[in-house]
Amino acid sequence: MSTADDPQRPGFHLTAPYGWLNDPNGLAQRDGTFHAFYQHNPYACVHGDVRGVTAWGHATSTDLLHWDHLPVALLPDTGEDAPDRDGCWSGVLVDDHGTPTLVYSGNRRGEGQRPCLATSDDPDLRTWTKDPGNPVLDPPPDGVTEFRDHCVWREGDEWRQVVSAGLDGVGGAALLFGSADLHSWAYRGPLATGPLPGTGETGDGDAWECVDVFPLGHGRHAMTFGVWREGRTLWTGYAVGHLVGDTLSIDRSGVLDAGLRYFYAPQSFLDERGRRVMVGWLQEGRSDEACEEAGWSGALSVPRVVSLGDDDDLHSAPVEEVATLRGEAHPVDLDGSRDGGRALSLDRVGVRLDLEAELALEPGAELEVGLRRTPDDAERTLLHLQACGSELRFTLARDQSTLEPGPDTSTLRGRAPYDGRPVTLRVLVDHSTVEVFVAGRPLSARVYPSRSDAEGVTLELSPAGGRVTGTVWTLSG
Ligand code: FRU
Repeated sequence: MSTADDPQRPGFHLTAPYGWLNDPNGLAQRDGTFHAFYQHNPYACVHGDVRGVTAWGHATSTDLLHWDHLPVALLPDTGEDAPDRDGCWSGVLVDDHGTPTLVYSGNRRGEGQRPCLATSDDPDLRTWTKDPGNPVLDPPPDGVTEFRDHCVWREGDEWRQVVSAGLDGVGGAALLFGSADLHSWAYRGPLATGPLPGTGETGDGDAWECVDVFPLGHGRHAMTFGVWREGRTLWTGYAVGHLVGDTLSIDRSGVLDAGLRYFYAPQSFLDERGRRVMVGWLQEGRSDEACEEAGWSGALSVPRVVSLGDDDDLHSAPVEEVATLRGEAHPVDLDGSRDGGRALSLDRVGVRLDLEAELALEPGAELEVGLRRTPDDAERTLLHLQACGSELRFTLARDQSTLEPGPDTSTLRGRAPYDGRPVTLRVLVDHSTVEVFVAGRPLSARVYPSRSDAEGVTLELSPAGGRVTGTVWTLSG
């Protein structure tokens, strides 16, 4: 199906031209250009471990919203002894004294994954040469059940690397290594281990994947990690704390995105303006067959600026570049005390939209936002918010999102602290992606409209519910 005919294929979210996409890899900005590499199977719409290959796709952008597809950047080597014979799995891009260098996981079925290096002398980062010394690191001997994915940074004269892992009898772990040259690594011990409070009812899983560690300012660091259990990618956990020597002393932890598996394996980078930008994998909620029929699977999230809020917690907001896509504006002004002023119905907003509003809700007040409604209301996605004590609770109900058989239509639930002062609600819809931010707390989801005329928006505030002011924009791009 071509993009123009596919009501589900996102416009300003990166998807593979054909085939499968999972984790973002090697995110960076160099000489003004943003590079997004990603886990990619160019031959089929399933993970390359099932059929096809796991390679690195590559796209570039100058605004994080319009992406140009470049040739596949890394493919597994075919030799029997090749360290990445069965896949070039996730990794990062670092600058080694002027040489762009990828640190990625070489996969060998039955043996697991090992860190590998590849370098480029191409200013456009299209071509890569794998290091003959690959793999450059073995897992430490003590009880490591999983060992892959890399976060690499420079500290003084030293490279530091965190490899995501599972530890027997422990669960998820971030294992720290140090190196003078990226080639020879010494194990320093676990930077952090699970389970961490608030990151999952059943503990933190058997392993963590795609651990990312980055400074937040104010002496604080953040860590994000994919929670993996028995082969299932469950949700993304996060922690905020202080790096003390070789460990992360954790003050706060939780689930990063209330959409759970719909925002997985995030990676972040520092852009040339000094923003910490995070991108995750918006997994599919439809069947492999539906993806195969569409010709694509998986999207990258809207890039989000992450920062430490006044409440010492991690906050996320879409990059401000999204505002450049804004077209027709529809004002929103709901007043719970005004009969007739509590509801608003907008038609023909478009299949891509941006809602930004200030919420001042009275205790117990409710706001319902109907997204992507078809004119006959046969399909609609409902966002519901309620002020409950010191929290704003919000749900995204997807049971009426589509008439198509099969997709996951479970309700997703989030919460944000609320002290009665106005907070920002932001909602981005781009065909099958929905991303909600309530006071900086994200909830990402997929919905599968079967019709391209699903584009109305309604808002309704409960009586005496407070005030909601803002704008709904039609987005281009
Ligand atoms: C996370 C992950 C990583 C791995 C990659 C393989 O989704 O499982 O741990 O490197 O995907 O594609």
